[in-house]
Amino acid sequence: MTAAPAQPQPANAPSLRTVMVSGASRGIGRAIAERLLADGHRVSAGVRDPNALAAAADTTVLRSQAPDRLLIQPYEASAADGDRRGPRAWVEATTARWGGVDAVVHCAGVFSRVGLRFADGEEEEINRVLAVNLMGPWRLSRAVWPQLVASGDGRVLSLVSMSGKRVKGRLAAYSASKFALLALCQAMRNEGWDDGIRVTAICPSWVNTDMAAAVTAMPHDAMTQPDDLATSVSHLLSLPAAAVPFEFNVNCQLEA
Ligand SMILES: NC(=O)c1ccc[n+]([C@@H]2O[C@H](COP(=O)([O-])OP(=O)(O)OC[C@H]3O[C@@H](n4cnc5c(N)ncnc54)[C@H](OP(=O)(O)O)[C@@H]3O)[C@@H](O)[C@H]2O)c1
Repeated sequence: MTAAPAQPQPANAPSLRTVMVSGASRGIGRAIAERLLADGHRVSAGVRDPNALAAAADTTVLRSQAPDRLLIQPYEASAADGDRRGPRAWVEATTARWGGVDAVVHCAGVFSRVGLRFADGEEEEINRVLAVNLMGPWRLSRAVWPQLVASGDGRVLSLVSMSGKRVKGRLAAYSASKFALLALCQAMRNEGWDDGIRVTAICPSWVNTDMAAAVTAMPHDAMTQPDDLATSVSHLLSLPAAAVPFEFNVNCQLEA
């Protein structure tokens, strides 16, 4: 992780939070983790390979700048609750370190081009997409919910997608997982409202990460950049509960 210099906190700075970020190894999740650390938040990074991230030279630099505010934990979105890489163990480790959790940012996700008339053998991929993109955020939110309630000002931010709002072409598996994730976000919004939990479904189109590496429909520098989304998440976390948007749509192309 490259270390953006920590900004001095203005007198009226919003409260600094303990934030769990899934998929923090690369792409959007990594950019968000870096930005939140630079903002002064405590970041619990959930990654499939903690050793690889911890060993990265730039992460070492980051640790030296914020050694007490970065926790790197194993997290596999499809792992069972009781698994040491599952959501419960990650929440417990984060709570043990900082006494609670104020926010979770769901970034772990996978892309798939499997369509309606999937081939024999492709059903397994559909199940994997649903397990990671839908059940991952669902089970992690369930595990962290008591901490978010205890926070009194809890936040859930989910990387959904414009593919959770409309279906482009024949992307049945990915779109179905993201439509379902948007539904989950609505259910979480309803469930958490009276406890002060606010939920935001972030819905970008193409973002210039590994996930979009094979896209040729538009130049990569014309896509939304991961750092742009990190700036948005930083802002969303700074908003008071009465000003948090439920949907945050991000367009790098016309969605008429
Ligand atoms: N890029 C886009 O155009 C775009 C647009 C809209 C929405 N999104 C959504 O934004 C989120 C982040 O995407 P991205 O562009 O940053 O993708 P990315 O660069 O491909 O990174 C995916 C991240 O998810 C993690 N991950 C994948 N499978 C996992 C699993 N089973 N358990 C735990 N972590 C897992 C990866 O970890 P490893 O490093 O271990 O593989 C990586 O950290 C996804 O939910 C994606 O659907 C992306």
